[in-house]
Amino acid sequence: MRRHNGLDLAAWSAAHLARIEAALRRWVSLEASANSEHGAPAALIAAMRYAVLDGGKRLRPLLVLAAAEAASSPHPNALPAGEGAADEAALRAACAVELIHAYSLVHDDMPCMDNDVLRRGKPTVHVKFGAASALLAGDALQALAFELLTPEHGMPAGQQAALCRLLARAAGSAGMAGGQAIDLASVGLALTESELREMHRLKTGALLQASVMMGAACGKASSQARAALKTYGAAIGLAFQVVDDILDVTADSVTLGKTPGKDADQHKPTYVSLLGLERSSAYAQELLDQALAALAQSGLPNTQALQGLARLVVKRAN
Ligand code: IPE
Ligand code: IPE
Ligand code: MG
Ligand code: MG
Ligand code: MG
Repeated sequence: MRRHNGLDLAAWSAAHLARIEAALRRWVSLEASANSEHGAPAALIAAMRYAVLDGGKRLRPLLVLAAAEAASSPHPNALPAGEGAADEAALRAACAVELIHAYSLVHDDMPCMDNDVLRRGKPTVHVKFGAASALLAGDALQALAFELLTPEHGMPAGQQAALCRLLARAAGSAGMAGGQAIDLASVGLALTESELREMHRLKTGALLQASVMMGAACGKASSQARAALKTYGAAIGLAFQVVDDILDVTADSVTLGKTPGKDADQHKPTYVSLLGLERSSAYAQELLDQALAALAQSGLPNTQALQGLARLVVKRAN
């Protein structure tokens, strides 16, 4: 296993993924909804669980936890995953971002958007449950994300508000939803590089950057560190969609867990259509360098996981 700066990213990820998966299973469940006043229909919860569980790289939750650790710990090797109040807030933030992401995928795949039949190696939610259930599962996942960030006990009100603000901004019209609107309006058009960058920043970059900043909001980062993490988040956020565009052309369906070749089929402007494969890869590498440089300037001693995740964003196979 490759190590950078002493951290075994696979081992780090495995420990954190276990907590993320367990929390998602617990929070997206009939039992959790039964705790509320009215309970929820089992069929809707089934569609939500199908959308969220058993698949997904969980990159956004890992970024939340890595940023929370970087912003909390003065000692590089001092942080096993714990059960304290700060850990609980970061875990809630991690799952909240993943729920927004999962909802965005459910809607992205619907016939009125990208019309995709395969996601995370399974039939898409609308194929399995029908369009109305897919729409409602997305709606309910979005609401649940904000419910997770606002527990009655254990998180200060100011922290809850800060996390909600970051997530709402990144998910809404000036973030993911806005970027998706630009994406749909851009079909068949040749965007300039700056227009394409803006679209990718909104539709994908905003939520990845918010993951980093929500993690930081669970720690005690200085304003210098926050500014550096913001730069890091912007760079990997954009890099993520550049690589998504590349993989749509280069990867096969089994590796990808979704239908390759969709972007060209649907006449979507992408980095590959604008720059070609080679320059797109070089750009992703350039963004990785920017992200790593930002971490180096953050003044934070414990950024190994963030470094590893940035490399993963650019080097991933799916
Ligand atoms: C795919 O995201 C959609 C984009 C925002 C490009 P991911 O590649 O993170 O999808 P999962 O969560 O691993 O399935
Ligand atoms: C989707 O971009 C970004 C979202 C906000 C969901 P894509 O449409 O390229 O994502 P994939 O390739 O279907 O995962
Ligand atoms: Mg799309
Ligand atoms: Mg799509
Ligand atoms: Mg894509």
